[in-house]
Amino acid sequence: MTIETVDYTTKIPNNVNLAADRQVLRALEGWHPGYIDWWMNMGPQGFQEALVYLRTAVSVDPKGWAKFDYVKMPEYRWGILLAPKEEDRKIPFGRHYGEPAWQDVPGEYRAMLRRLVVIQGDTEPASVEQQRHLGKTAPSLYDMRNVFQVNVEEGRHLWAMVYILQKYFGRDGREEAVELLQRRSGSADKPRMLGAFNEATPDWLSFYMFTFFTDRDGKMQLESLAQSGFDPLSRTCRFMLTEEAHHMFVGETGVGRTVQRTCEAMRAAGIEDPYDTDRVRALGVIDLPTIQKKLNLHYSLSLDLFGSEVSTNAANSFNASLKGRFQEIKIEDDHRLEHATYPVLKLVDGEIKRVDEPALTAVNMRLRDDYTADCQRGVDRWNKVINKTGVAFKLELPHVAFHRQIGEFQNVKASPAGALVDEATWNRDVDKWLPSSADGDFIVSLMRPVYETGRFSGWIAPPRLGIDNKPGDFEYVKIAA
Ligand SMILES: [Fe+2]
Ligand SMILES: [Fe+2]
Repeated sequence: MTIETVDYTTKIPNNVNLAADRQVLRALEGWHPGYIDWWMNMGPQGFQEALVYLRTAVSVDPKGWAKFDYVKMPEYRWGILLAPKEEDRKIPFGRHYGEPAWQDVPGEYRAMLRRLVVIQGDTEPASVEQQRHLGKTAPSLYDMRNVFQVNVEEGRHLWAMVYILQKYFGRDGREEAVELLQRRSGSADKPRMLGAFNEATPDWLSFYMFTFFTDRDGKMQLESLAQSGFDPLSRTCRFMLTEEAHHMFVGETGVGRTVQRTCEAMRAAGIEDPYDTDRVRALGVIDLPTIQKKLNLHYSLSLDLFGSEVSTNAANSFNASLKGRFQEIKIEDDHRLEHATYPVLKLVDGEIKRVDEPALTAVNMRLRDDYTADCQRGVDRWNKVINKTGVAFKLELPHVAFHRQIGEFQNVKASPAGALVDEATWNRDVDKWLPSSADGDFIVSLMRPVYETGRFSGWIAPPRLGIDNKPGDFEYVKIAA
C-alpha cells in the first residue's frame, strides 16, 4: 500500500494528481466559484469571518491524516482525497465477483452508477443547509466548533462526489455537479432528493439526533459504496468514512451530555419521576420523555433513507457489483446471493410478520438491520449514562413500523412498541410518541447562546475531553476575528 502525498500547490488540494489532469482540474476550478457562493449563502450563517479551530485533512495516512488550526471557514482547504489504492483489488460481490476492480465506469452501468453518486452527493450539502442557523444558539464554543467541523467536512464530501462526477461522467457529470449546488433543503420547487434531508434542524438536540441517526445512515451508505467494484468510488468513500466517524461522535456525545445534564439536575432537585415533566422542565433541562420523542422522530426518518425493504433497484446495484453490503468482505457466503434468502418484516393480512425474501432484493433490509444494531449500541451507552445517575428511565429505539413514510409500513399506523393502531388511537397518542409543537417550543426556549470560553448552556453537560486534547477553557471559535 502506497500513500500518495497530498498536493497543495494547486488551488484544490488533492492526492489524485490533478496537476496532470488538466481537463478535470479545469472543470473543478470552474465549479469552485459556484461552490463558494453556495457556501457563503447557504453555509453557517453569521460566522463566516470567525476563526474556527478546525481539523483539515492533509494526508490519507491513517496515523496522521489531519491537522488542527484556526481557519476562517470560507478559506477551508476543501480537497479531493482518495484512500490509498489497494494493489490488485478484486470486486468483492455481485455478478462480477472476483474480477479486477474497475478503474473506469463500465458503460453498461453508467446510469445506475451516476444515480448512486448523485444521491450520495446530494445529502452532503443538504445537511449544511439544514444546520446553517445553529451557530447563533450554540450552547458553547466547543459545540459551535463541532457543528462547523461537521459542516466543512460535508462540504468536502460534496467535493468528493463532484470529483467522481466530473472525472468519470463527462458532460452529464458536470451538469449533475451544477445541480448539486442548485437544490435546496426544504425548498418547495427544488428540494433535496431524500426526505430526511428536507426536514428542519430547529435546535441543538435535533442536530445531535441528526448526526447520530442520519449521519449514521450516511455511514452505512458509504460503507456499502466503499465495497463498490468501481474502485475510485470505493476509495473516495473509504476516506470519507474517516471523517464521518467524528460526526457520529458529535451526535452520540451531544445526546449523551444532554441526558446526563437532565439526570443530574433531576437528582439535585430530588425529582424521582421522569414523567413529572413540568418540574423537570422548570429546571431548565430537557425532560427524558421528550428526548425519547426526538429519538423516535429521527430514527424513523432515518429508516426511510434505506428505501423499501424489498427493492429491485437495490438488487440491481448489488448484482451489478456497484453497491455491496455492510462489511461485505467479512461476510461468509457466496457474495452473489443467487439462492440465499433474508428475513424481512412485512405487513401480511394486517399483521407484522417475518417473511423470507430473496436475499438479493432484501439488501436494503439487511443494511438497515446492520444500521439498527449500530444505533442500539449507542442507545445502550446513553442508558448507561442514565443508570449511573440512578434515574429510572430507559431510552429505546421504536419499532421499525413506527412513523414510516417509505416501504412496507407507510400506509399503517403503529405505536413505538410495534402495535398496529387505528387512526383515532394514533391521533390521541401521537403527542406522547413524537415531539409536539409545544415540545419544540420548549426546547427552542432553552437555545440561548453561550459564547464565553469554557462555559456551557444549562441544559447540557460539558464534554469529558476537549477536541485535539485542548483544555476546558480553550477558545474553539474566535468570533470577532
Ligand atoms: Fe458526509
Ligand atoms: Fe456526516
